[in-house]
Amino acid sequence: MTDFPERVFSGMQATGNLHLGNYLGAMLNWLRMQETHDCIYCVVDLHAITVWQDPQALAGNIREVTAAYIACGLDPEKSIIFNQSQVSAHAELAWVFNCVARLGWLNRMTQFKEKAGKDRENASIGLFVYPNLMAADILAYRATHVPVGEDQKQHLELSRDIAQKFNNDFAASIAAHGHGEAFFPLPKPMITGPATRVMSLRDGTRKMSKSEPSEYSRIDMTDDADTIAQKFRKARTDPEPLPSEPDGLKDRPEAENLVGIYAALAGMTKADVLKEYGGAQFSAFKPALSDLAVARLAPISTEMTRLKSDPAHIDGILADGAARAEAIAKPVMDAVKDIVGLLRTR
Ligand code: TRP
Repeated sequence: MTDFPERVFSGMQATGNLHLGNYLGAMLNWLRMQETHDCIYCVVDLHAITVWQDPQALAGNIREVTAAYIACGLDPEKSIIFNQSQVSAHAELAWVFNCVARLGWLNRMTQFKEKAGKDRENASIGLFVYPNLMAADILAYRATHVPVGEDQKQHLELSRDIAQKFNNDFAASIAAHGHGEAFFPLPKPMITGPATRVMSLRDGTRKMSKSEPSEYSRIDMTDDADTIAQKFRKARTDPEPLPSEPDGLKDRPEAENLVGIYAALAGMTKADVLKEYGGAQFSAFKPALSDLAVARLAPISTEMTRLKSDPAHIDGILADGAARAEAIAKPVMDAVKDIVGLLRTR
């Protein structure tokens, strides 16, 4: 098997405000990877338009997510930070993958079923082929590692299937063009970290989500210190004190969620948190959690506000990132055209 150099790719949708679930579930892993790997972090605006986006809001949301990336600590000097639509290889490779992936594969995607809901006939075709575009995002850079949440695992499996089928279908041409046995790596999902799943503050059985109507269900990355404190004060709990072992969190989803959030913010395990707070009432634990969250998150929201006041600066970062991304993706796309037998400009 061909050896591919390690490269990390990940992305978030350009649908505005990030929340604590994005931060603890994805961003902390992205930050860790940035220290040890070549990383490419994308704001996926082409994915965003698979459902209706108000054109007046979209550009602002792309900048907002970019500002969040940087405020959280992604460093445009270390990592490539850009938005998808500025690099044409994403859309071009996605088309080739539309011709590689099988209808039956996409019919199995659970996220499409969830997002399309009952009125499937009326969903956009873009929403259906969303996973093919995601495979193109990753493979346009021949990325090997993809830090994502649990919910994206099935899409990553599809990316591997597409890479594998491309490598098989075009094996002779890949070899003839001097690319050895395989042109694409089979990208691996990386699902790590203490709190990959952050749940709603109103209902510990549902994922924290920007589509839940109550703002009290989530901590937004733009929340100031008072708002963060107020939301944790109102967070749903049960009447029991905290257990002293993680086992005692079973069937207590709200308690488990708050302990998980504390652990992730503090860089501790749940067991360590419970060693400290076992036996404590929520009236004592919540203020500690709230203080910790404010200490960690308030500086990020302050930095986001500062960055958002200078859109030209953000646009400059995205333009620079796009140029660096293009320098990697363009030769890959050229090679794909040669392998498939498409004529291209030289
Ligand atoms: N589908 C991902 C999500 O909703 C976002 C995404 C798009 C992505 N392209 C990607 C993630 C490529 C990792 C790699 O979270």
